[in-house]
Amino acid sequence: MATLKEKRTCGQRCEDFGHFVWNSDNGTFMGRTPVKWVYISLYYVAFYAVMTGLFSLAIFVLMYTLSPYTPDYHDRLESPGVMVWPNTYGEEIVEITYNTSNKKSWTKMCTILKNFLQPYNETKQQLLNNHTCTKGKYYFQKTFTAPHHTKWSCPFTENMLGPCSGIEDPTFGYNCSMPCVVIKMNRVINFLPSNMTSVAPYVNCTVLSGSENVDEIEYFPQNGTMDLSYFPYYGKLAQPNYVNPLVAVKFSLIKKKQAKIQCRVVSDVISYENIHDPYEGKVIFSLNVQS
Ligand SMILES: *[C@@H]1O[C@H](CO)[C@@H](O)[C@H](O)[C@H]1NC(C)=O
Ligand SMILES: *[C@@H]1O[C@H](CO)[C@@H](O)[C@H](O)[C@H]1NC(C)=O
Ligand SMILES: *[C@@H]1O[C@H](CO)[C@@H](O)[C@H](O)[C@H]1NC(C)=O
Ligand SMILES: *[C@@H]1O[C@H](CO)[C@@H](O)[C@H](O)[C@H]1NC(C)=O
Ligand SMILES: *[C@@H]1O[C@H](CO)[C@@H](O)[C@H](O)[C@H]1NC(C)=O
Ligand SMILES: *[C@@H]1O[C@H](CO)[C@@H](O)[C@H](O)[C@H]1NC(C)=O
Ligand SMILES: *[C@@H]1O[C@H](CO)[C@@H](O)[C@H](O)[C@H]1NC(C)=O
Repeated sequence: MATLKEKRTCGQRCEDFGHFVWNSDNGTFMGRTPVKWVYISLYYVAFYAVMTGLFSLAIFVLMYTLSPYTPDYHDRLESPGVMVWPNTYGEEIVEITYNTSNKKSWTKMCTILKNFLQPYNETKQQLLNNHTCTKGKYYFQKTFTAPHHTKWSCPFTENMLGPCSGIEDPTFGYNCSMPCVVIKMNRVINFLPSNMTSVAPYVNCTVLSGSENVDEIEYFPQNGTMDLSYFPYYGKLAQPNYVNPLVAVKFSLIKKKQAKIQCRVVSDVISYENIHDPYEGKVIFSLNVQS
């Protein structure tokens, strides 16, 4: 038995739609009476008002409990990374290559170091961090006693780097085969680089290859220590003028004048054998002096 399909013209369809939009027979608009539409609108207004309220409350509670000075969550126990300057990258590691007979090649290294040391300028530090810190122990600060509701940062000046400060020798040893490098440990908020009783962390550089080419390794400040008074770091907002303590290392190269070096920040709480992060606790670089 064949079903009889009613063929409807376009005009009829339009009329149907018109009926749907405004049906004068039972007084509905889009299938609902105006009163129902008012109820529906009121329902949605109330619904969104409540949602907005909940959302605002959640944000408010979050903001209220967050300290603006420190991040609340760390995804793991952080061990700081270590970096070296001049930071002239080769294919994999930092490659410090220069030619003593080519002034342009070694002044490039001096410029990098000079720029890096700019925040450590003595007059700058006297101005920004005019504060005396007790060496040899952590500088815990519970209150904000420095100007502008901040915490004090201990000054670190370039002259602490001795012959590697660029003051007496503006060539940093790059006019011959006694180059200086500067080692910096990244900041980690609230990180204490050794447990309370032990000594300050220090930089220890070892020659990985070409040890016969390295005559002497000198550290500045003495013993390569990073004084405890620079820790803990409370964050950029709390300590806007913080400068990382640095250690300069001067190498005396002889013979073939090339070597691969690893500099490690040694402390009982700094790990350096993380295969996923080769810069954790240490930095590896090569020195190559041509002439
Ligand atoms: C520090 O900076 C001042 C002014 O910018 C400059 O005159 C002075 O020579 C700098 N000091 C050093 C040791 O570079
Ligand atoms: C550093 O502070 C002392 C007193 O705390 C003050 O006499 C001196 O002028 C200050 N120096 C600078 C460079 O602001
Ligand atoms: C390198 O520079 C220093 C300081 O300017 C100077 O005393 C030394 O003689 C220079 N060495 C060479 C090999 O030019
Ligand atoms: C410091 O760390 C060392 C090595 O991890 C540990 O043997 C020592 O007990 C620690 N000391 C304190 C006071 O936590
Ligand atoms: C530096 O590291 C080397 C190799 O790990 C080690 O033999 C040496 O004793 C260390 N020096 C210091 C002062 O810790
Ligand atoms: C450097 O280390 C030596 C030997 O470990 C020690 O006698 C000396 O006091 C240390 N110097 C500083 C400034 O820490
Ligand atoms: C170093 O520079 C000098 C002068 O520019 C040049 O003669 C020499 O070949 C360079 N040495 C190397 C290893 O490139």
